[in-house]
Amino acid sequence: YPQAFIYDLDGVITDTAEFHFFAWKKLADGLGVSIDRQFNEQLKGISRMDSLEQILKLNSSLVRFTKEEKVNLANQKNVYYLELIESINSTNILPGIECLLKKNKELNIKVALGSASKNAVQVLNQLGLTKYFDFIVDASKVKKGKPNPETFTTAADHLGIPYSSCIGIEDAAAGIEAINEANMFSVGVGTIEHLSHADYLVGDTSKLVFEEIVKRYKEKTV
Ligand code: BG6
Ligand code: MG
Repeated sequence: YPQAFIYDLDGVITDTAEFHFFAWKKLADGLGVSIDRQFNEQLKGISRMDSLEQILKLNSSLVRFTKEEKVNLANQKNVYYLELIESINSTNILPGIECLLKKNKELNIKVALGSASKNAVQVLNQLGLTKYFDFIVDASKVKKGKPNPETFTTAADHLGIPYSSCIGIEDAAAGIEAINEANMFSVGVGTIEHLSHADYLVGDTSKLVFEEIVKRYKEKTV
């Protein structure tokens, strides 16, 4: 058996990836640039400031912002985002997730969060899922965000589990890259178009079945 499951939050445990997109879109609209879902794929998994930089790069007139103005823009995006997540609760847990968490616990498999979000603790609390987690890695705990493996290795190091015995679950290309770089088994939730490097890919979270994940993990490991 694998010894730890490390879950991404936004887009894996709950559909907050949508809310991040809506909040960025609102901010971008205000700046006179429009972003679509295709562009949004590259924002998934990366930090708030890195996301802002990607958006500002879309239009040459937006490079004029000072550091302070960028901080204000990033804060404004977070105000939009906080409005959107205000009322989320356990009904917003994506299908299959709580079942998988329960299965992990039943089998004494460690559970960690590997999120790039500064709002991760709050979101996990609102969902009522904090009790399942042995360790939470959020934006405050890492120097180098995804695609750097630090998010995932920090979780494994804290749990005292070898990387090769960890399974990481991600909906972002940057996240799959981070898991692979950490020498962990990567499970992607999404499409082959964006997540072709995942060791095992499912279309949506309802297909995250413990036995199947472990079977694929074992096939790769032996
Ligand atoms: C990641 C999301 O989990 O967290 C990104 O995939 C988001 O879309 C990033 O930008 C940072 O989140 P926050 O809550 O710190 O702005
Ligand atoms: Mg994600």
